[in-house]
Amino acid sequence: MGQFVDGKFVGDPSKDKLQALENPARKPIGLLRKNYIRVMMKLNHFLDKHYDKKQGIETCDLVFISDLKDEPVDFSEFLIDELYGALPVTLFGAMHRPAENISKQTCTFVDIGAGKARPLVLAAEHGYKNILGIEYVPSLAQTGRDNCEIALNHMKDVVWENRTADATSMKYPDTDLVVLACNPFDRPMFDRWLKNLLNDLRDNPREMVLIYHHSICSHLLDARPDLERIEYGLADQLKIHLLNPHPYGAWRYKRA
Ligand SMILES: C[S@@+](CC[C@H](N)C(=O)[O-])C[C@H]1O[C@@H](n2cnc3c(N)ncnc32)[C@H](O)[C@@H]1O
Repeated sequence: MGQFVDGKFVGDPSKDKLQALENPARKPIGLLRKNYIRVMMKLNHFLDKHYDKKQGIETCDLVFISDLKDEPVDFSEFLIDELYGALPVTLFGAMHRPAENISKQTCTFVDIGAGKARPLVLAAEHGYKNILGIEYVPSLAQTGRDNCEIALNHMKDVVWENRTADATSMKYPDTDLVVLACNPFDRPMFDRWLKNLLNDLRDNPREMVLIYHHSICSHLLDARPDLERIEYGLADQLKIHLLNPHPYGAWRYKRA
């Protein structure tokens, strides 16, 4: 079980995530901050809706596990009902900057828990040519594929796939990797996923940058000797902090 030290959560948050989220130390300090976060969320929602309209896709509506009773998948390891919410459009540019030393022409951009595929569309717009989404829930993966067909099929030099699969046991492409994880799961799924990713890199060493948003398990990444945290530049940090109340980080695979 973890605890809050100087306002930061230290330890294993997934054992009781709900308790962690309700801890007073995580609650916004005062009305001003609360209202600021509300305004930022509304602003992001407005911009995300605008983006959907421009692309002719739908990625904004949240999806809850309780809405997916007929879905043929096991949700027993999920701790909260909210399953799908997307990375705000405004964050993508600054958030993937730590990966800028990896060639977008030859690497694969992988979204772990791709949902309705907003980050896949954003990745193509930012110049990535090989794009892979992995989504556990078949209906969400299908919506993601529909969205990609609308938004990406005119980009003839982009190869994309939004696969219905469990990311904790997936096989990664044989290329350098830019991996996005936008709060896909907690422990113990996170442990299985990380082990699988790092085993893949150990067996076939190559460049890998992991971008982790809403990073409740980031202490597990910091504890790994084969991963190194990459610092964001001040301009990106400011941009991300101002637009986003959630923690985030980036890590690089350290080849032996
Ligand atoms: C917070 S949403 C993020 C969606 C997307 N990355 C985005 O930013 O638009 C997390 C997604 O991870 C998916 N997910 C959860 N567990 C998964 C697993 N084991 N394998 C693949 N996808 C998973 C959920 O179904 C959900 O769509």
